[in-house]
Amino acid sequence: MLPIPDHRIKSRRYTFTCFAAVLLTLSSCATGSKTQTQAARRGVVADKAMVVSAHPDASNIGLEILRKGGNAYDAAIATQFALAVCYPVAGNIGGGGFLVYRQHTGETGALDFREKAPSAASRDMYLDSLGNVIPDLSLLGHLAAGVPGSVDGMVKIHEKLGSLPFAELVQPAIDLARRGVVLTERETRMLNNAKAQMLAHNKHTPYLVNRQADWQPGDKLYHLDLARTLERIRDKGRDGFYTGETADQIVKEMQRGGGLISHKDLLAYNAVWREPIKGQYKDLRIISMSPPSSGGIALLQLLTMVEPYDLKAYGWQQAPTIQLMTEAKRRVYADRATYLGDPDFYKVPVSGLLDQNYLKTRMSNVSLDQATASSEIKAGEVPIYESDQTTHFSIVDQFGNAASITTTINGGYGSMVVVEGAGFLLNNEMDDFSAKPGIPNMFGLIGGEANAVQPSKRMLSAMTPTIIEKAAKLYMVVGTPGGSTIITSVFQTILNVVEHGMTMQEAVAAPRFHHQWLPDEIQHEPDAISPEVRAILESKGYKLKQRNRYGAVEGILVLPNGKLEGGADPRGDDKAVGY
Ligand code: GLY
Repeated sequence: MLPIPDHRIKSRRYTFTCFAAVLLTLSSCATGSKTQTQAARRGVVADKAMVVSAHPDASNIGLEILRKGGNAYDAAIATQFALAVCYPVAGNIGGGGFLVYRQHTGETGALDFREKAPSAASRDMYLDSLGNVIPDLSLLGHLAAGVPGSVDGMVKIHEKLGSLPFAELVQPAIDLARRGVVLTERETRMLNNAKAQMLAHNKHTPYLVNRQADWQPGDKLYHLDLARTLERIRDKGRDGFYTGETADQIVKEMQRGGGLISHKDLLAYNAVWREPIKGQYKDLRIISMSPPSSGGIALLQLLTMVEPYDLKAYGWQQAPTIQLMTEAKRRVYADRATYLGDPDFYKVPVSGLLDQNYLKTRMSNVSLDQATASSEIKAGEVPIYESDQTTHFSIVDQFGNAASITTTINGGYGSMVVVEGAGFLLNNEMDDFSAKPGIPNMFGLIGGEANAVQPSKRMLSAMTPTIIEKAAKLYMVVGTPGGSTIITSVFQTILNVVEHGMTMQEAVAAPRFHHQWLPDEIQHEPDAISPEVRAILESKGYKLKQRNRYGAVEGILVLPNGKLEGGADPRGDDKAVGY
């Protein structure tokens, strides 16, 4: 076990430039200038209720539901459907996700509406006759799609937790789809980048493609087929998607492109209520997603592993802080590759993975003098292929209920397949299975038997929708997209607030770094690590690799006066709204 930092280390002043300011457009950050009070550095503050999501239209629709007396779960359903319209890169009805909730009574729970493998899926379906992975087969086109779970998820949330009529929660998305969505600069770029692949993987011309010319910022996108699909969901609930016209359209689409999802698979799809993962970090109670997400277990492992060390004294983004977080991440992602999978198919050793002594032992060979090589933890070498288009939203209502939802079609625009006539994209979640043990998926993550493809099994996720209590009261709601980086972004955001005194807005905006065991490198945003700290880390054997910005953390923090601070990630068009 490493010694807790002594006064010599505590008093040491690392040269620190406020890199976060570039991103934050704040004039100070946690370890920088104290000229601004914390209040002045906060994000949007609201008295009673708040929605933070990846798109202003979706946030505003959620807020409208809250204003008219709906609860956080009503608003979550409306926000999910709205994101399917205004944020097609990740918002969806053709994907899946997870809800973690905490009611004002203190009751907590989790809903797993993760996609499932079609019943005709098989272990080696992405391998050629020589046993090699066929490039892109699990990523692009019809075979990449799992059976969607989002619609059943929204129906189940409504049955258990909703208060307004279901139709009222779907209607705003329908109106938005017919009214049209104005494309932002970022969305325009993403859609234009996806154009060639969308044309390649659809027999029809998807309405998301502008054949004549590229989309321009300010263009309006009308989602008319999607509006009709949403009307069927509004009127018939799950039957509006899993049976009848929509189901026929999905199955026809599968037949056109050689996909596997059948009527039987759609009928059989069921979202499942699960017990969330719960644990303690200092005086905070962490409530996060259980398997088939690795997120909750991994987040708690990370927090437990760094808890004995005084990260606050070491300082934000200082070498020892980065080293300790990296060494914890390396070990946690190695566990993830071996032990995590769908609990309905594989016995995940949850208690063992969260055992305090086990986690203490895992950190016992960490040294601040030298990096541990990932090959010493477990051998392997993999490339990284970036894409992080999942989306998260956090909601708190006037009653004190909280909803934390991360939802995904996996890659940006999922499989690129738009169901003809139904106007929605299908996921490429099958890539989250381990196509072959030891071979990395899109995120560079490797897996084994626990996450092998099996009929009707759920693929392992990293999504980490999280709620935190302090003194038995709601304290934070947080989550993010980002594929393999989801877990470490949530981890870092929590520590930014709890250890480094940042506001919610600063914490979500602050530049991030990531390590996932393999490849053995610290991946970091451009301004995350100062040249001085880089030099220290490199001298100790760490490899560093700069990457594009990643993630879109959406957080809500309950302030000491009971008000809510929203943190909307400035990396996208994300927006916090409240009243
Ligand atoms: N598709 C990203 C995840 O579930 O982790």
